[in-house]
Amino acid sequence: MTDSTPAATPESVLTLRELAVSFGGNHVLRSVDLEVPTGFTGLVGPNGAGKTTVFNVVSGYVRAAGGDVRLGGETLIGVAPDAIARRGVGRTFQTPKLVAGISVVENVMLGLDGRAGPLAHLRAIAGSRRDSRPARERSLDLLERFGIVEYANEEASALPLATQKIVEVARALIASPRLVLLDEPAAGLGAEDVEAMVAPLVELAADNDLAVVIIEHDLALVSRLCPRLAVLHQGGVIALGTPAEVLAQPEVVDAYLGAGFAAVGP
Ligand SMILES: Nc1ncnc2c1ncn2[C@@H]1O[C@H](COP(=O)(O)OP(=O)(O)OP(=O)(O)O)[C@@H](O)[C@H]1O
Ligand SMILES: [Mg+2]
Repeated sequence: MTDSTPAATPESVLTLRELAVSFGGNHVLRSVDLEVPTGFTGLVGPNGAGKTTVFNVVSGYVRAAGGDVRLGGETLIGVAPDAIARRGVGRTFQTPKLVAGISVVENVMLGLDGRAGPLAHLRAIAGSRRDSRPARERSLDLLERFGIVEYANEEASALPLATQKIVEVARALIASPRLVLLDEPAAGLGAEDVEAMVAPLVELAADNDLAVVIIEHDLALVSRLCPRLAVLHQGGVIALGTPAEVLAQPEVVDAYLGAGFAAVGP
């Protein structure tokens, strides 16, 4: 048998091949190629470059117009968001999407069914099949590791932004994913809250051999966390390498200049 699709390299957890996405006539992603191994990969680029759109395609919320998304060797194209989550993809949202009216510990448990995102509220009302004692204990254990177990029984949507963002990270991790997509987890957080999130995250990622893709505008933070950076611009990955290599490339500096790179660069 022959297969014209290039095989994912063994160390690649997530592989994007010629990924294209259009909204109406707006070709946001033209041809994105990227291989994501275990460890931390930073996905950076100017506002509106399509970074969140990449996460939305990988997690099944937005349909690709072309190309392929593979987790391990299997395509995720056409697979529903909750099924993608059950295959081992956890994610957070740029704006936290916690379900109102239920507690922090219950919000984290929703991650066991892949029930984040737009339908989480309806499904939470329907009740979780996973609301068992072990699920609750696992959720409490994660809250403990992130130092927010004292909020376990509070209503999640009433908490400060920083705590909500940590709850989202815990929800993305509870189902023992292979791949975790974090969309600007540190945006709007003070330095202390960033450390409260990052230290346990780095530890959990190493313990579980996770592949973590992190979208972040704070280039100093991504450069510290990620041995690899991919820069998305004009519908494709224009640079890939170590932070020092990538941020020194003229194309990358040019891509950012219009977006105030000089003012925010490391
Ligand atoms: N569901 C959608 N429908 C229509 N247009 C969309 C949709 N999602 C994203 N877009 C458009 O696609 C482009 C890329 O958006 P996206 O949110 O992926 O960018 P981003 O790189 O995450 O930006 P930011 O850094 O500001 O978060 C933008 O022009 C945006 O308006
Ligand atoms: Mg975004």
